[in-house]
Amino acid sequence: MTASPSDPTPSPSPGPSHDPELRTAAETLAPQSLVELFANDPQRAERYRIEAAGMHYSYAKQRVDDGALDALLGFARRCDLEGRIAALFAGEMVNPTEGRAALHMALRAPAGQRWQALDEPVDKEVHATRERFLDFAEALRSGQAAAADGGAITDVVNIGIGGSDLGPRMVCEALAPLADGPRTHFIANVDAAEREAALARCDPARTLIIVTSKTFTTQETMANAAGARAWLVDALGEAAVGAHFAAVSTNLAAARDFGIPEDRVFGFWEWVGGRYSLWSAVGLPIGVAFGRSGFEQMLAGAHAMDEHFRSAPAEANLPVLMGLIGVWNRNLLGAESQVVVPYAQRLKHFVGWLQQLEMESNGKSVALDGSAVPGPTTPALWGDVGTNAQHAFFQMLHQAPRAHPVDFILPLAADHDDAQQQRLLIANCLAQSAALMQGRDESTVVAELEAAGLSPEAARAAAPHRVFSGNRPSATLLLPRLDAWHLGALLAAYEHRTFVQSVLWGINAFDQWGVELGKQLAKRVDAVLRGEVGENLDADTDALIQRALKRTS
Ligand code: F6P
Repeated sequence: MTASPSDPTPSPSPGPSHDPELRTAAETLAPQSLVELFANDPQRAERYRIEAAGMHYSYAKQRVDDGALDALLGFARRCDLEGRIAALFAGEMVNPTEGRAALHMALRAPAGQRWQALDEPVDKEVHATRERFLDFAEALRSGQAAAADGGAITDVVNIGIGGSDLGPRMVCEALAPLADGPRTHFIANVDAAEREAALARCDPARTLIIVTSKTFTTQETMANAAGARAWLVDALGEAAVGAHFAAVSTNLAAARDFGIPEDRVFGFWEWVGGRYSLWSAVGLPIGVAFGRSGFEQMLAGAHAMDEHFRSAPAEANLPVLMGLIGVWNRNLLGAESQVVVPYAQRLKHFVGWLQQLEMESNGKSVALDGSAVPGPTTPALWGDVGTNAQHAFFQMLHQAPRAHPVDFILPLAADHDDAQQQRLLIANCLAQSAALMQGRDESTVVAELEAAGLSPEAARAAAPHRVFSGNRPSATLLLPRLDAWHLGALLAAYEHRTFVQSVLWGINAFDQWGVELGKQLAKRVDAVLRGEVGENLDADTDALIQRALKRTS
């Protein structure tokens, strides 16, 4: 059965922040520290972990106990989480403000599985398109899809922004040691400095440019596409455009109008949200870098996580547990942000991808039924790779007044031969979560300082600065290694966690109306800067425009 906009998900009232059972569970738990929870339950580390799709998720260092988990599972039942997951996989209208399904799972399903979006079968089209864009990727890799002069393409530049950039950019970096195709480059920012730097690394005669835009109207992408076209035409002439451009879009007509030959335009569908699109033809740069088999391994890992998410009971479901704990931290423990620290240099773009996924999906204050959400929704999500992050913001994580829960992500096996540094990386990751939990109390600090030779008075004076309150929540996600399969599973786990949280908050995870106003005003300001109209925004913006005009004219 298909839901309709007039049949929205019942939003849980009064929301997780005010739910009596959750509040009672939080009050019962509050007096116990994490250290005490471990001391009182020798099995805690064993009981609070789960394996799925090759990933190991330990949530023993989260500030939850059985009472909290039971209350969360009860709340999830009252939100009909199971029914909402079934509706998601059934291709129902889970995005009613845009009248769309959200069926990114269909993109990574093996051939033969039946999928429907709003009652329309989609699986055959999905497979045909996947074959087509992977054939093109392979043709580029083999040199069969040649440049205008008949030589091979050695560099592929993706021009796109948001979901049309972050996913492929992150995956190409994450799996870089496995790349064996043309080099990939990414241009997103309307600041032409990024385009100039990327194109400076490329020879136009050997370069293919992919214009990736779901709408094919995004200002930044269209501006960069025009700039790249000029760069190419300047070097090779207008006739070379067909051999050196491709496009990925749901707006096939606009891509053709740009001058890109039809056989190089790869479509996807309205039911693929931009931030969930790397599994579609938006992943073409991934296919170029790692080939059909690399792309398919990533899909297979994600599909394994989809199957787990769809079928495992809530209490043994990895993305569900991640989502439940995320809501617990946010709404019951009052966490204002969620920190994510991958201990893998190759995941340096992971947080950027996750920021769009989580905050564009769940950064909302209106419930599905149009009412105000009764409490906070997504925390600010931020982070960076470890160990670099330890030397930047970990001071705050350890000693600021408020706790910021951390997700540690650690691929165990390295893709290099330096076993000693991999051991150091692992040691640092595990030490940080232990330090956040254990802390260090004043008497221990005083004893240490006295043992180091300080007088009792000096030790007592110095101690407060060296005390760690501890009791700060974290989770650790272990991957055996950072390969295409496990990366796919990791990304799908976070996608589903995002959906779970949206259900518990009663919001639509798949629209993004909040990005529109800024886009509209940017057009108005640009019209002022071009001298077409006078300023009429607000006193400060108008004054800033004046200063900008003085500097740029
Ligand atoms: O930032 C808003 C947004 O619409 C994102 O949702 C999307 O990923 C991005 O812009 C790019 O959009 P498009 O793929 O249509 O160019």
